[in-house]
Amino acid sequence: MATIRDVAKRAGVAPITVSRVMNNSGYVKPETRRRVEEAAAELHYVPNMLAHSFRSKRTNTLALVLPDITNPFWTTVARGVEDVAGAQGFSVFFCNTDENETKQSRYLAALLRRRVDGVLLAPVTNDGTTVQMLLRQNVGVVVIDRKVKNIEVDTVRGDSIGGAYQLVRHLIDLGHRQIAALSGPANLSVSQDRVAGYAQALNEAGLTIDPSLVTFGDFTIESGRDRMQALLARRPRPTAIFAGNNFIAAGALTVMREAGLRTPEDISVVVFDDLPDPYVFEPKLTVAVQPAYELGQVAAQRLLQKINHPATKMNDVCDVILPVQIIIRQSTRSIMT
Ligand code: RIB
Repeated sequence: MATIRDVAKRAGVAPITVSRVMNNSGYVKPETRRRVEEAAAELHYVPNMLAHSFRSKRTNTLALVLPDITNPFWTTVARGVEDVAGAQGFSVFFCNTDENETKQSRYLAALLRRRVDGVLLAPVTNDGTTVQMLLRQNVGVVVIDRKVKNIEVDTVRGDSIGGAYQLVRHLIDLGHRQIAALSGPANLSVSQDRVAGYAQALNEAGLTIDPSLVTFGDFTIESGRDRMQALLARRPRPTAIFAGNNFIAAGALTVMREAGLRTPEDISVVVFDDLPDPYVFEPKLTVAVQPAYELGQVAAQRLLQKINHPATKMNDVCDVILPVQIIIRQSTRSIMT
């Protein structure tokens, strides 16, 4: 367990400076404060004098640590969390990690110092170390949207395997064989599960999987653009794409439009997550929609149960998988000859 001296050494300051930062007392130059907070985050340092009092008092605050606050999926999850928490008198801190481990560590250290009662975490890797650290500090944790390895912890997520399977099955039934999968970050279970659902549909139809048609990247528009550009250079060109999330689809569709390609006439498109009206693309997209609002509600309810009934410790650990809804619209067509 890191000490105040370890943090001081790493930040290149005196221990008293670390103490001032941790207690928000006395003046500390912003650059010094940033260095100390970064060092504390990297060392998972929690001031002992607070660690003891951590659990003795409640602050009636939760935190939602999510990877992309610009994505409508996550703002809808946040709404579900806030509505449940607010009804029980809890305030919610919203933290945006950009799927970045340093940002995640910095936020979690700041939340621990502010003695939040519980954390709803979409972890930026599938490694359980961060969750273990939080549980060791007696902070309530519910993991959302993705699973972590090596630790049993309450998890609430969408059915990525089932949703991906149904979308790709739909393409196969329309006669598509050259189907590209553009998934999210490779170290996330949610990305792996979407490729697993894609593979299950192809295997079930007796089709071989061409690994060069399966890519992992970021859940971003830019990543969708980059990977779609590469796919357009392939011969034969895929007749369909399965986009691992809504922003990947937005990037891919923009590149297709710039290349003069139409959906579904030239390339059919299916997407995990919907794009709400302000992003509307013509044609309307065929999607797998996760119950994002309900996911936020269920996760917050679970977390508050644990906080409000610590005595029971609720040793049973849940893994709630919420079904997705498939909506067939106009972005796919049959190529059966
Ligand atoms: O960016 C939104 C995506 O990230 C969603 O598909 C959600 O499942 C999360 O993984």
